[in-house]
Amino acid sequence: MAELTRTLPASWYCSSPLYQLERRAVFLKSWYLLGPVVRFLEVGEKVSYEIAQQQIYAVRESATTEFPGPKDLKVFDASTGAELPSHVTPTGLLFATLSSSAPSFHEFFGDLEQLLARVDFTKRPYRRSIRYEGNFNWKTMVDGYQECLHCQYTHPSFSVYYPPTFYTVYNHQNFSQHVADPKKPDDGLFLYFFPTCTLNVYGGGMSSFRVCPTENPGVTRMEFDYYHIEEGDKFEDYFKFTRQVAIEDFELCEKAQTNLERGVYGEGILNPEKESGVAYYQERVFELVQQQFKDERYLSDSQNERPTITSRVVETEA
Ligand SMILES: [Fe+2]
Repeated sequence: MAELTRTLPASWYCSSPLYQLERRAVFLKSWYLLGPVVRFLEVGEKVSYEIAQQQIYAVRESATTEFPGPKDLKVFDASTGAELPSHVTPTGLLFATLSSSAPSFHEFFGDLEQLLARVDFTKRPYRRSIRYEGNFNWKTMVDGYQECLHCQYTHPSFSVYYPPTFYTVYNHQNFSQHVADPKKPDDGLFLYFFPTCTLNVYGGGMSSFRVCPTENPGVTRMEFDYYHIEEGDKFEDYFKFTRQVAIEDFELCEKAQTNLERGVYGEGILNPEKESGVAYYQERVFELVQQQFKDERYLSDSQNERPTITSRVVETEA
């Protein structure tokens, strides 16, 4: 018997109570990439973020070395002023959580630093950030990032450089590595960090985006940060290329969300090879939400039998 995985049902992309459950189950217990240390060069400058309706900021408090290290960088809850758990990786990425209820960085990401060691994240200066809202659920965007079946149709310019035939996603603990050509595994670094952050390094450029849910499950704010070794025309060419891909994804997500909200699409089976990245992260969402639901229901009424949520695994004849 082979096992195939179902997608999350369409209702999970449209429900406010479900989003509130995700917020407690997933967002308050995860780690977020805030940026490479070159994003935080100015001592005292607060770099602000809003993730799942929580305002936080990162600040360089001291300058003991050229680039800020773990002793120089701090992350705070903007509402309470409390310091939040943060971590600077050996090659220069700053991660943080939204609350102390998250596991430790190393518990959460396991072997991530081993993979990050191949890139010196101080080499590409910060150039630009942009943000805007779109009419789609945060998972609609992550679904698209985690597979490349849509690439040839949606991204004709991207597909010239990265033919989707060879595109492979390797899932690790709370992150996925995307490899465009398995014969060249060191050609760039493309990572998804569960639940909402990405990092894309190739050539002299680097971009990172955060998929930020709003309180409306059908609206998501996209936030992009761009880095490049060059400024001027070379950076602008890179920026134009990556923006083109992002706009194509944005349009696809708004159309997909319309289908989810109108009942055109309900639920389906994921391709075990080409959509393994989608299956991996959706399973994490499902498990965490299911556990949170059980825990909260159990706490609120311990006399009741614990509720169950139907399994997403489908058994088929091999
Ligand atoms: Fe795409």
